Amino acid sequence: MLPALTELIRRRRSIKPVDMDSGREVDRALLVELIENATWAPNHGLTEPWKFHVFQGANRADLVAIMQQTYRETTPTAEFREDKLKKMGENPLLANVVIACVMERNGGTKIPEIEEIEALACAIQNLQLSATAAGLGCYWSSPPLLEAAPFREWLGLRSEDRCMGLIYLGWPKASLNWPRSVRQPVENRIVWHGCIARPM
Ligand SMILES: Cc1cc2nc3c(=O)[nH]c(=O)nc-3n(C[C@H](O)[C@H](O)[C@H](O)COP(=O)(O)O)c2cc1C
Repeated sequence: MLPALTELIRRRRSIKPVDMDSGREVDRALLVELIENATWAPNHGLTEPWKFHVFQGANRADLVAIMQQTYRETTPTAEFREDKLKKMGENPLLANVVIACVMERNGGTKIPEIEEIEALACAIQNLQLSATAAGLGCYWSSPPLLEAAPFREWLGLRSEDRCMGLIYLGWPKASLNWPRSVRQPVENRIVWHGCIARPM
């Protein structure tokens, strides 16, 4: 009934930076359009609880430096992994763009924090669907270091703000076979109340 939208939603996949063409620029006007689409997400009280920090070009190296510094300084020795540190150094440079998505509490405490987080999640999905429609690959990454003090301070977050994820964006390599995914049959996830379940 909604073929174009259904196709887009189901085509979106997490595309890892290693499968992106880092040298192929994502145009500034396209980035603005993606982020503007993100801001059309529903949000309670129109607080628009978001800020998008865009890293492209040489700035990606600054992001790498603070991520690795934060990981080194805040990871307990028993959990520290050299391979994770290495990947942190590579991923932002393999993608053409990285967007740090911040839940920014603009409405005081009137709106519960969970609702501001939910609104940002809706915005991020708008961004990902828009990127997919443009032919870009994207991937939502949420390493624990986003919550750690050195990273938060570097990004200039206030105590009430939270960085909810890094969105890696880039044109997929020509050689990429677009990944497939699966979901449970939807009937397993629906409880019909007060209506007769019909075979789909
Ligand atoms: C809130 C959130 C955080 C995520 N964080 C990570 C992450 O840190 N690392 C990762 O590999 N994928 C992360 N993902 C992506 C999921 O792993 C991915 O969506 C899932 O594997 C399904 O694949 P698909 O996106 O291709 O449908 C995250 C997704 C969400 C919604």
